[in-house]
Amino acid sequence: MTFSTFPSRRMRRLRSHDALRDMVAENHLSTNDLIYPIFILPGSNQREAVPSMPGVYRQSVDLWLKDLDKLVASGIRTYAPFPVTPAELKTDCASEAFNPEGLVQSAIRQIKARFDNIVIMSDVALDPFTSHGQDGLIDTNGYVLNDESVEVLKKQALSHAEAGADMVAPSDMMDGRIGAIRNTLEDAGHVNTCIMAYSAKYASAYYGPFRDAVGSAANIKGGNKKSYQMDPANSDEAIHEIVMDLQEGADMVMVKPGMPYLDIVRRCKQELKVPTFAYQVSGEYAMHQAAFANGWLNKDAVILESLLAFKRAGADGILTYFAPDAAELLSR
Ligand code: PBG
Repeated sequence: MTFSTFPSRRMRRLRSHDALRDMVAENHLSTNDLIYPIFILPGSNQREAVPSMPGVYRQSVDLWLKDLDKLVASGIRTYAPFPVTPAELKTDCASEAFNPEGLVQSAIRQIKARFDNIVIMSDVALDPFTSHGQDGLIDTNGYVLNDESVEVLKKQALSHAEAGADMVAPSDMMDGRIGAIRNTLEDAGHVNTCIMAYSAKYASAYYGPFRDAVGSAANIKGGNKKSYQMDPANSDEAIHEIVMDLQEGADMVMVKPGMPYLDIVRRCKQELKVPTFAYQVSGEYAMHQAAFANGWLNKDAVILESLLAFKRAGADGILTYFAPDAAELLSR
């Protein structure tokens, strides 16, 4: 094949000014793509910084309700609440996870009562509630028990749906939990509660700052989550996980972490063509912030570039702690 001779074909022509560049842009980021994780403290008028996540705060619901006025007005429409459970409520059996008056359940109720037209995506996993920090129940050797854990996850998911969650998001990586949760929701009449399955969740070292934020880090018994979260070496296995979750009733699927796993986002979208989401996790946020604080990277430009990368890979949306910054930048 011969191309027209130099220099009649100039790729730079379409890059010569903003309006032209925008006209041929293949991917776009908008506030509809953003999902904002929020950390909920008990009590009222409580606010604490998360040292390893500069700019991220853990707050009681009353303060979040005030912030949400601004966040919702800025165009962010989906929120993912995570509880900071007091140590005295953590047990080996994680019963606080399905307390109808628990932190997340009451946050969902209050937020949904105040705002129309937003989506609450609630995390389903036991790590904020177990004294040992694992996402499920453990046996005497510290092994995470699958089927016993699923029984608790079902109750947790149902309590979120009853509180008004639009979408439950199991992030625990137990086998069979999507089908079990779907059946539980159907039996209780919650036929329109969506399931966002964290299908391809890797045993990643990028979750460190999140575990600080929810206080599940100190004591992960066994030291890691490799017996249920995926091996970073694997890619085909992610597709199997995703297909199984879809067959069990997942409406949308998640790849996590984000930037180091963009190849998985790409494969999921390309091979399965389903609603595909990615989580730009706490460690990705922390390393970006560290570079911004040192003046090594330009904050505004890099935030948008990092989020656009997800869109280019095929993601339909991104969970990101940068959601407020991104919404502000997109409004300029
Ligand atoms: C656990 C959970 C984790 C995150 C969200 N839910 C981490 C873990 O597996 O320990 C991490 C999110 C982040 O790092 O931002 N159910």
